[in-house]
Amino acid sequence: MWFYIPTALLAASSLVSLSQARTLFKYERIQLTHEHLETLPAEDAKLFAFDAQAAPNTTASRCRYGPDDGKWPSAKAWTKFQKQLSSEDALIKAVPQASVCYGASKNDAKCQNLTKNWTNSYTHIDDPTEILSPIYQGLTCQPPSIYDSGNCTLGGSPTYVVKAKNVLDIQLGLNFARNNGVRLVVKNTGHDFAGKSTGAGALSLWTHGFKDIQFFDNYVDESGYRGPAIKAGAGIQAFELYKAANDHGVVVIAGEGQTVGVMGGYILGGGHSPLGSLYGMAADHVLGFEVVTPFGDFVSANSTSNPDLFWALRGGGGGSFGIVTSVTVKAYKDMPITAASWTLSSAKIGNDKFWSAVRAFADNFISYADSGIYTYFVILPNGNDFTFSIQPFFAPNRTASAVASILQSYSSKLTALNVPFSPKITEYKSFYSAWQAEFPLEALSDVRTALGSRLFPRSNFASETGRNVTFAALRGAVETGHPVIAFNIAPTLARAGNPDNAVNPAWRTSVLHAITTQSWEISASAVNITNARRAFTNGTMQKWRDVTPNSGSYLNEADRLEPNWQQSFWGDKYARLLSIKNEMDPNDVLWVNNGVGSEGWRVETKDGLPSENGQLCKDIQKAAAS
Ligand SMILES: Cc1cc2nc3c(=O)[nH]c(=O)nc-3n(C[C@H](O)[C@H](O)[C@H](O)COP(=O)(O)OP(=O)(O)OC[C@H]3O[C@@H](n4cnc5c(N)ncnc54)[C@H](O)[C@@H]3O)c2cc1C
Ligand SMILES: *[C@@H]1O[C@H](CO)[C@@H](O)[C@H](O)[C@H]1NC(C)=O
Ligand SMILES: *[C@@H]1O[C@H](CO)[C@@H](O)[C@H](O)[C@H]1NC(C)=O
Ligand SMILES: *[C@@H]1O[C@H](CO)[C@@H](O)[C@H](O)[C@H]1NC(C)=O
Ligand SMILES: *[C@@H]1O[C@H](CO)[C@@H](O)[C@H](O)[C@H]1NC(C)=O
Ligand SMILES: *[C@@H]1O[C@H](CO)[C@@H](O)[C@H](O)[C@H]1NC(C)=O
Ligand SMILES: *[C@@H]1O[C@H](CO)[C@@H](O)[C@H](O)[C@H]1NC(C)=O
Ligand SMILES: *[C@@H]1O[C@H](CO)[C@@H](O)[C@H](O)[C@H]1NC(C)=O
Ligand SMILES: *[C@@H]1O[C@H](CO)[C@@H](O)[C@H](O)[C@H]1NC(C)=O
Ligand SMILES: *[C@@H]1O[C@H](CO)[C@@H](O)[C@H](O)[C@H]1NC(C)=O
Repeated sequence: MWFYIPTALLAASSLVSLSQARTLFKYERIQLTHEHLETLPAEDAKLFAFDAQAAPNTTASRCRYGPDDGKWPSAKAWTKFQKQLSSEDALIKAVPQASVCYGASKNDAKCQNLTKNWTNSYTHIDDPTEILSPIYQGLTCQPPSIYDSGNCTLGGSPTYVVKAKNVLDIQLGLNFARNNGVRLVVKNTGHDFAGKSTGAGALSLWTHGFKDIQFFDNYVDESGYRGPAIKAGAGIQAFELYKAANDHGVVVIAGEGQTVGVMGGYILGGGHSPLGSLYGMAADHVLGFEVVTPFGDFVSANSTSNPDLFWALRGGGGGSFGIVTSVTVKAYKDMPITAASWTLSSAKIGNDKFWSAVRAFADNFISYADSGIYTYFVILPNGNDFTFSIQPFFAPNRTASAVASILQSYSSKLTALNVPFSPKITEYKSFYSAWQAEFPLEALSDVRTALGSRLFPRSNFASETGRNVTFAALRGAVETGHPVIAFNIAPTLARAGNPDNAVNPAWRTSVLHAITTQSWEISASAVNITNARRAFTNGTMQKWRDVTPNSGSYLNEADRLEPNWQQSFWGDKYARLLSIKNEMDPNDVLWVNNGVGSEGWRVETKDGLPSENGQLCKDIQKAAAS
C-alpha cells in the first residue's frame, strides 16, 4: 500500500538538462503521506506517525528496548509494520549466514561452501545481516574454522532488516523504530570499519537496493554549477558508479575500493579518492541529496533547500543526520592515467638501505601530491624483514614519460643507494581502465585485528627536522610490528574549489593519511584484547598523535576507540555539526558510535569489548556529568 506524490512536483526526466525542479527516482516517488496515516485506525497510525512528539518518553527508559524486554513491539505490531511496507518480503528476520555451521541448522556441505567464500566481500555485502568488520558484530556466528563462536547467536546483528525498495519503506521503518523505542541502524554495504552499520536488537534499514543512476550532460544548479552530473541511488557501489561515468565519458570523485558504497557512508564521511590530489574529497562535489530526516520527512538538501543539512551531510558522517536515498554529484571530463608500481624488500637490500629508500620516497610527499598524484602504499613488517609496496603511484592526466620524469629524482637517489629500481609503469587511456586494473577486490576484515589512522600535515614534511621526526614515528610503528597502509594525497580546499562543508579540516592541510593495525592471538581473552587495544590506542597511535598535534583522523577509517574523537574527526566544525544534529534529531533516533551527538549513549557489552553486541543505553556517567 503506497502513495505517489502529485505529478506536478515531479521533474520529467526529459527536461533534466534545463529543469531545476526536484528530480526523483521512481523509488523516491513512493512515499509515506500524512493522508495515508489518517486512513489508519488511531492505534496503528501511532506506530508510524511522523512527529517527534510520538517518540518514546526518553526519560522513561534508559535503553532502547530489546527483543527480551517487555516493551519490545508485539508480534502483532511487527505484522502491522510488515503489511504497511511496499511488499511483505521487505521485512526480513535477521539470520547469520554461518548458522548453517552450528546447532539445529547445521549443514556441513553448506557450511563448507560458505567457509570457502567467507573472505569474499560480496558474501557479506549482498546479505541483509552481515557486515565486513565482524569483530564489531561480536564474532557470535563465524564459520568455526575461522573463529569458533561456540554457538551461533545474533550478537551485534540486528533483529530485523528492512530491505528497502523505496522511500516509503525507509520512512515507515524509521518512524516505527522511533515511535516504539527500537534501536535503528542503517546498513548500505557494511564496509564501515568500526561496525557502525549494525547493532544488537536493532531494526536495520538496508539501502543496498537503491541502484538507480541517471546522467545529466548539462546540469544547471542555482548555486551556479553548469555541467555534467550524475545522480546515483544510495546503494550504488564504486564499480557501478565508475562504469556509468565511463559510459558517458566522464569521471566522478569516488574511492579506490571496488565495492564501497559511494553514496552512503563513504561520501557522508568525506571520501578520499585516487583523484583526490586533483579534486579534493568526494563530498566536495555533491550538488544535492535526497534524504529522509529523523522526523520521517523526505526532503532535498542542497545549496538552497535545507542548507544546514546539506552542509552537515558533506563530511558529518553516515547514520547521523538522515537516511540518504540518492546523491547528485558533479562529473568531470575523463582523462588518461599513468600508474606506476614497485616493491622493495629489506630481505634483498638490507635494513639500512631499505629505510633510506622508503625515506627518499616520503621526502617527496608534498611535491607528488601537489602534482595531482595519489599514492596508495604499504610498509609491512614480516619478522625482521620489511617490504615497501607502491600499489600504485596513480598519476591522473600524465603520460608515462611525464611519470618517469617525476620519478627521476627518486630513481637517482635509489641508484646512489645502489638499490635496483624498475617500476612497472602503465599508461591507460581512461580513468576507468586504470582503476579496474590497479585496485584489487577488497577482502573481509580479520577477526583479530583493529585499526587506527592519522592525518599527517604537510608542515610535517616541509623541513628536514619535520621529516626526521615524522618518518621516525612511521618507521617506529612498522618496526614494532604494525603495518602502515597509507595514502599520499592532498585534498586541499583550493583543489576542491573552496567548498564550505563539514569535511574534517585536517584533510585540507594533510599530505598523508596513514592507517595502522593491532592484532591479537585468536585465543586471546577479553582482558588480553582490552590490553592490546589499550596499548594500541594509547601507545602506538599516541606516538603518531604526538608528532601531529591539532591534526585529526579520518572518521571512515579510524580507531573505534579514538580519543577526543569530536576534535579528531571534525576539528572546529564540531560545534556547528552538534547544533544541527540537536535540531534535526532531538530524540537521538539515528545513533552511531562516535558520531555527531552520540555522547549521551553507549553500547553496553557483556565482555566489555568495544562492539555492537549489547544494548544501546544512556551513558549514566556522561549524562550526570553534563
Ligand atoms: C575495502 C575498503 C576500501 C575502502 N576504500 C576507501 C577509499 O578509497 N576512500 C575512502 O574514503 N574510504 C574508503 N573506505 C572506507 C569507507 O569510506 C567506509 O567504510 C564507509 O563507511 C563505507 O560506506 P558504506 O555505505 O559502503 O558502508 P556501511 O557500513 O553500510 O555504512 C557506513 C556508515 O554510513 C551509514 N550509512 C550508510 N548508508 C547510509 C545512507 N544511505 N544514509 C545515511 N547513512 C548511511 C551507516 O549507518 C554507517 O554508519 C574503504 C573501506 C573498505 C572496507
Ligand atoms: C534544491 O532542491 C529544491 C527542492 O527539490 C529544488 O527546488 C532546488 O532547485 C534545488 N536547488 C539547487 C541549487 O539545486
Ligand atoms: C516520562 O517518564 C518519566 C519517568 O517514568 C515520568 O516521570 C514522566 O512523567 C514521563 N513524561 C511524559 C511526558 O510522559
Ligand atoms: C556448494 O557450492 C557448489 C558450487 O557453487 C554447488 O554446486 C553446491 O550445490 C553447493 N552445495 C550446497 C549444499 O549448497
Ligand atoms: C561463492 O560466491 C560466488 C558468488 O560471489 C558464487 O558464484 C559461488 O558459487 C560461491 N561458491 C561457493 C563454494 O559457494
Ligand atoms: C550455547 O548456548 C547455550 C544456551 O545459551 C549454553 O548453555 C551453552 O553453554 C553454549 N555453548 C557454547 C559452546 O558456548
Ligand atoms: C589535463 O591535461 C590537459 C592538457 O595538459 C589540460 O588541458 C587539462 O586541464 C588537464 N586536466 C586536469 C583535470 O587537470
Ligand atoms: C635528520 O636525520 C639525519 C639522519 O639521522 C641527520 O643526519 C640529520 O642531521 C637530521 N637533520 C635534522 C635537521 O635534524
Ligand atoms: C593473555 O594474558 C595473560 C596474562 O597477561 C597471558 O599469560 C596470556 O599468554 C595471554 N594470552 C594470549 C592468548 O594472548
Ligand atoms: C586511554 O587512556 C585514557 C586516559 O587514561 C583512558 O580514558 C582510555 O580509556 C584509554 N583508551 C583505551 C583504549 O584503553
